[in-house]
Amino acid sequence: MDYQTLVAERRSIRGYKKDPVPKELIREIIEIAKGAPSSMNTQPWFFHVVTGEPLDRIREGNTERMLAGVKPQREIPTHEAYVGVHRQRQVDIAVKLFEAMGIERDDKARRQDWVMRGFRQFDAPVSIVMTYDKSLEPATIAHFDLGAVTYGLVLAAWERGLGTVINGQGIMQSAVVREHARIPDEQVIMTCIAMGYPDYDFEANEVKSDRTETDDIITFTGFD
Ligand SMILES: Cc1cc2nc3c(=O)[nH]c(=O)nc-3n(C[C@H](O)[C@H](O)[C@H](O)COP(=O)(O)O)c2cc1C
Repeated sequence: MDYQTLVAERRSIRGYKKDPVPKELIREIIEIAKGAPSSMNTQPWFFHVVTGEPLDRIREGNTERMLAGVKPQREIPTHEAYVGVHRQRQVDIAVKLFEAMGIERDDKARRQDWVMRGFRQFDAPVSIVMTYDKSLEPATIAHFDLGAVTYGLVLAAWERGLGTVINGQGIMQSAVVREHARIPDEQVIMTCIAMGYPDYDFEANEVKSDRTETDDIITFTGFD
């Protein structure tokens, strides 16, 4: 698939078939992703690939704690609540997803159910927990590097028929993830990627998110 088509067709997948994903295929995808650039070629990333029982324990622990009202425990500083244009874009994608799923605005039970799905990493058969070397903190540049490698990963996965959704929800309770994915103390959990074969009967998987107008995000200087 050429790059333009790959980028245009990829979208986040939030409903998966139960089929397992072969370990060798995941390894191949990570081999490709690790070709990403990084600051001074530091390559600060680690990929912790989790499936089966340990992943189920992560889903359970994450969900239980969120339901019990335990404050989210992320290992990187996060922005509290979005406002303005960022809030609007957040709302827009939520509206699209709820419309596709037929979830009404005032249907609290189904909305809550959707949030819970997120805490279970959309019941994907695989989760890849992305971490970086703690010794690099404060690690803004390492965050950039992880973004680059993660996008490479989701594109390589899509090209091989696999769906993914990068998700913060799955690592909201990072202590649980740290325990069951056996993350070493000297690494920081940044995010996770749910992965599996897309269930194309799942309506939300058809949703294409919007992008801003190119002219709104670009300036050219010194061209004429
Ligand atoms: C760092 C990051 C965290 C995200 N966390 C979540 C999440 O917790 N739940 C979710 O449903 N989607 C999550 N997403 C997916 C975004 O909502 C999605 O990428 C965005 O709406 C654009 O849609 P697309 O991926 O289909 O192009 C996350 C994406 C990124 C890059």
